Amino acid sequence: MAISRADCHALDAEDPLRDLREEFSLPDGITYLLGNSLGALPRRTAAKVAHTVETEWGRDLSASWNTAGWWDLPQSTGDRLAPLIGAGPGEVLAGDSTSTNIFKVMAAALPLRPGRRVIVSELENFPTDRYVVEGVAKALGAYEIRDVGSLDEALDMALDEALDEALDGDVAAVLLSHVDYRTGALRDMDAITARVRAAGALMIWDLCHSAGAVPVDLRAADADFAIGCTYKYLNGGPGAPAYLYVAERHQDAAHNVISGWHGHAAPFAFEPYYRPADGVRRFATGSPPVLAYSALNASLDIWETVDMSVVRAKSLALTTLFIDLIDELRPDLALVTPRDPDRRGSQVSYRHADGYPVVRALADRGVVGDYREPGIMRFGFAPLYLRYVDVYDSATALAEVLDKESWRDERYQQRLTVT
Ligand SMILES: Cc1ncc(COP(=O)(O)O)c(C=O)c1O
Repeated sequence: MAISRADCHALDAEDPLRDLREEFSLPDGITYLLGNSLGALPRRTAAKVAHTVETEWGRDLSASWNTAGWWDLPQSTGDRLAPLIGAGPGEVLAGDSTSTNIFKVMAAALPLRPGRRVIVSELENFPTDRYVVEGVAKALGAYEIRDVGSLDEALDMALDEALDEALDGDVAAVLLSHVDYRTGALRDMDAITARVRAAGALMIWDLCHSAGAVPVDLRAADADFAIGCTYKYLNGGPGAPAYLYVAERHQDAAHNVISGWHGHAAPFAFEPYYRPADGVRRFATGSPPVLAYSALNASLDIWETVDMSVVRAKSLALTTLFIDLIDELRPDLALVTPRDPDRRGSQVSYRHADGYPVVRALADRGVVGDYREPGIMRFGFAPLYLRYVDVYDSATALAEVLDKESWRDERYQQRLTVT
């Protein structure tokens, strides 16, 4: 083969991120290629959460709302996330789920473009995005959804042309994913945002598959709103607080439709009527899940030490290596991820009619990827804890599962609840 396992060991020895692997608790015998779904557990998380439980909650009780900064967690955590997505201080609020935040920012964006009644959404987006757009359109009334793309067009990367056709003077807002959850295709944030804004509409980016995977610069792109999760590449833990971004220029006019007391200007005045807090804080709603913020902040301690350009360089080296190895070992496998590195996030996906049993058989060999309809096997490459040798081992394991057809075993055919 063009590259040997020994070559991969040599690349690992020179990897500037190699020591970060020690920061993560990774089970022996597992090659974890699902950092694009649920990031691995940072070793420091357990101690940090234990401190929050035992000391802040157990000993200091409700004083911790003041002394441990619990009240400010949505903003303080948002400010720590901001550098990872090219936002400024006071532009990001951590909390709720991505789905809830889509509702909040979409419902805030639409009234900023009065007279325009169309929301552009992509059919191939992660379904919750489209579902929530439907919910917003119903809740606000008299909005039309204009879908771009279709499942197979997405796999052909035809988004650009579809967007050109969809943009006209009726469009109020556009919601797109920066990195496609199935194909791993990376969209040109600067160019798309510029086109959407030139059409007079507002641009909302879903960063679920890009924050922590690729450098993101919302300010440079002049994006209007964004949302994302923290449980994937950012290793915040299952169901970790998500986040929303509201560009500073929109903050005074943007209204939070779920106007709860945590977003009130003076929550402890207990006024009977709502008055929004200044800035992004108005997008807070109710009491934050403090234990979950604690886990996320443990991971952000690691992210604060990391240079995203180094992460990006390693991510591309890992995904390119995987693609090259599979090209050599199983040239028949249909790659649906762009070969062009500038258009690739941090995952590699292949289409295979029996993709589901293949990923199950592979998991039994210790290589964990996952499956998404239609027929997509996804392999995520989290540069903080994956080694070149892991890429080598997982590519050879995948080729072996296909060569030996071990996926045909009956036990791999049955769908689990979470695929
Ligand atoms: C693009 C995208 N948006 C949203 C979500 C999930 O939303 P939530 O965090 O509300 O479960 C995912 C989950 O994988 C996703 O890939």
